[in-house]
Amino acid sequence: MKKPLIIAHRGASGYRPEHTSASYRLAVEQGADFIEPDLVSTRDGHLIARHDNVLNLTTDVASHAEFADKKTIKTVDGKKIEGWFSEDFTLAEIKTLRAVERIPELRPANVEYDGQFEILTLEEIIALTQELEREHDRTIGLYIETKHPSYFASLGLALEVPLLEKLHAVGYDGNKAPIFLQSFEVENLKWLRAHTELALIQLLWSSGQPADVMLRGDSLDYDGMVTRDGLEAIARYANGVGPEKSHFLLAADDHGRLDAKNASDLVSNAHTVGLDVHAHTFRAENAFLPDALRSSDREDLPGLLEQEILTFMELGVDGVFTDNPDIGVQAKQRFLVRSVS
Ligand code: G3P
Ligand code: CA
Repeated sequence: MKKPLIIAHRGASGYRPEHTSASYRLAVEQGADFIEPDLVSTRDGHLIARHDNVLNLTTDVASHAEFADKKTIKTVDGKKIEGWFSEDFTLAEIKTLRAVERIPELRPANVEYDGQFEILTLEEIIALTQELEREHDRTIGLYIETKHPSYFASLGLALEVPLLEKLHAVGYDGNKAPIFLQSFEVENLKWLRAHTELALIQLLWSSGQPADVMLRGDSLDYDGMVTRDGLEAIARYANGVGPEKSHFLLAADDHGRLDAKNASDLVSNAHTVGLDVHAHTFRAENAFLPDALRSSDREDLPGLLEQEILTFMELGVDGVFTDNPDIGVQAKQRFLVRSVS
């Protein structure tokens, strides 16, 4: 029986500022199978771990007077955004910044780590992974997302070429390598399919369209991509899908418990065409849980995440992205015990 993967979303980001060495390290200590770096580019073409090219969301850039004149307004994937952007900074400049907690109102304990950690490059993440593999004597996978791929390509900073060069150079090759490459866009995954055998995952947001599809005026949207036909089309270039939780349409039963029996047929449809299913994103705070699993009205307090993850595992998902790998591991253990009894 295939065991569901625990994918540490931005590391153990429920407990440490996301995409820091501390976040990745803790995720591995908690038993995650994969750590999940999101990548954007610097002005000089280095790949760095940030969820957004907008640096002020998760770094202290706003307090660096020397970078005040880099604050600007840009349109990224059709959205107007004001801030400091990774593509305007060299790696040397990025290295003077420090990571901060993205959602201090929900994760006040993480603020204690603000200012302690550098922004990591892909090379540093690979080196950290190798170090953690030696320390823990086990394989640790990398689940890498290219962020805003067509936007970066339009700037002459395409992410895919340096990404493959670096991964292939250190021996990640073939579809059995402990690595997944993921994207919410489509064309970059098709390009990757033509240039690598590494496993590819098509991410599926809860609504709307992939940015590259939307910008070229096509009608394909995420709702269409989770239909049988949509999944069949994805299976021609990807190895799996990463749907947002709402696509599973889990409803509570008469007792207010999530019930896998009420789910959509997404998992079986995906498996029929040979796609793995990795669901996202599982977070412990009540703010991110369905009503049936909240512990109180306080958004920052933890609810019944283990129950939520267990329900998705019973539904047959092959992996879960979670900010709380420790809870994911507990759910997996319960799931495996139930499966053999
Ligand atoms: O990457 C998987 C999924 O969690 C999507 O996430 O957090 O990068 O927007 P995010
Ligand atoms: Ca991601």
